[in-house]
Amino acid sequence: ARLVVLVSGSGSNLQALLDASADPGYGAEIVAVGADRGGILGLERAEKAGLPTFVVKVRDHADRAAWDRALTEAVAAYRPDLVVSAGFMKILGPAFLGRYEGRTVNTHPALLPSFPGAYGVRDALAYGAKVTGCTVHFVDSGVDTGPIIAQGVVAVEDDDEADGGDALHERIKTVERNLLVEIVGRLAREGYRIEGRKVRFGS
Ligand code: GRF
Repeated sequence: ARLVVLVSGSGSNLQALLDASADPGYGAEIVAVGADRGGILGLERAEKAGLPTFVVKVRDHADRAAWDRALTEAVAAYRPDLVVSAGFMKILGPAFLGRYEGRTVNTHPALLPSFPGAYGVRDALAYGAKVTGCTVHFVDSGVDTGPIIAQGVVAVEDDDEADGGDALHERIKTVERNLLVEIVGRLAREGYRIEGRKVRFGS
């Protein structure tokens, strides 16, 4: 399967997919990496791997709808079977979803439906949750609301308060990248069907 990965930051999830896809048996290859901003480690990781990259910035477009269309065209140029949003920090709009809903997977650093949005780690910590974790899900028109494929649980430690959640986020990211690699590989190799809010593997 052809993968396009969308990033906005360090790209550790991207790196995990790059490492996994080096195995020919993985069943998926990354054909391009896209971002909403330049100068991020995620794009450097792609360039080091010899992959094509593209950057589509909101401020380069008249409005969000124009950005949405431009991002969709940039992704479509690579003919992906699956799009993976791995730390991509923009909401994918109607143009994109019109084309890729049902084929776009996102990873979120909390146990959805708890703590959606851009501050899932911090929100879980502030709430006093005893466990949190990560969720791999299909993207729909909401924010972190699409059908859940898999989740991983991470315990919140007493001293996690001390650093505002950084250590907790690193522990979550360790679970998250392993879960993302496993799920993307299975979707690619086994195929899947989305039935309402349920995701079933197998073609
Ligand atoms: C991940 O935890 C992702 O779930 C969240 O931001 C982080 C991105 O990490 N949205 P990276 O860019 O993959 O290292």
